[in-house]
Amino acid sequence: MKFFIDTANLDQIREAQDLGVLDGVTTNPSLMAKEGISGEDNIISHYKAICEIVDGDVSAEVISTDFDGMVQEGEKLAALDDKIVVKVPMIKEGVKAIKYFSQKGIKTNCTLVFSAGQALLAAKAGATYVSPFIGRLDDISTDGLGLIEDIRLIYDNYGYDTEILAASVRHSTHILECAKIGADVMTGPLSAILALLKHPLTDIGLEKFLADHKNASAK
Ligand code: E4P
Repeated sequence: MKFFIDTANLDQIREAQDLGVLDGVTTNPSLMAKEGISGEDNIISHYKAICEIVDGDVSAEVISTDFDGMVQEGEKLAALDDKIVVKVPMIKEGVKAIKYFSQKGIKTNCTLVFSAGQALLAAKAGATYVSPFIGRLDDISTDGLGLIEDIRLIYDNYGYDTEILAASVRHSTHILECAKIGADVMTGPLSAILALLKHPLTDIGLEKFLADHKNASAK
């Protein structure tokens, strides 16, 4: 299972990269705004900075909602670095743009996916990744993980190459459940990744080992 970090914060991206388990980064306009990044030149420089830190794919989202605008923006983003994946919203013009990019060999991430039907369309259009937002579904009392299961079943039925990128992950349990279902990738906050480290018996056990070693050395 690939681990992507869902942030535009360079320190957090570096920390996840340093841990040695990072496979890529996802960003979106809200995450860029949260870091105070605005204006085309600054946005482009920020994507370049992210690409310099990580080894894997970096999703950069288009702002346009019409086909021509998405193509123009996406081609410019894709030209920045081989790691760039053009993130396109699941709307009618977005599906057309994904088809266009896939024929051109440009990687895409179909975002804002909330149903299996949308995921089926994304795969048929040739998306590299599909991003079902599980946390936002859970927020409205809908089964986000159930959606990942449905998409896994459908993609396996037909052998679609599109990778299921479980997005809007909120906590480590989401990561584990996605891994059990067979999501290809998960993207979440650094806190969810670091929470996988935690077990009270690990801390207690380590404390005891170190104390026993210290006592033995003192004798
Ligand atoms: C996906 O790529 C999105 O950036 C992201 O996962 C959205 O998550 P949120 O629901 O926490 O905003």
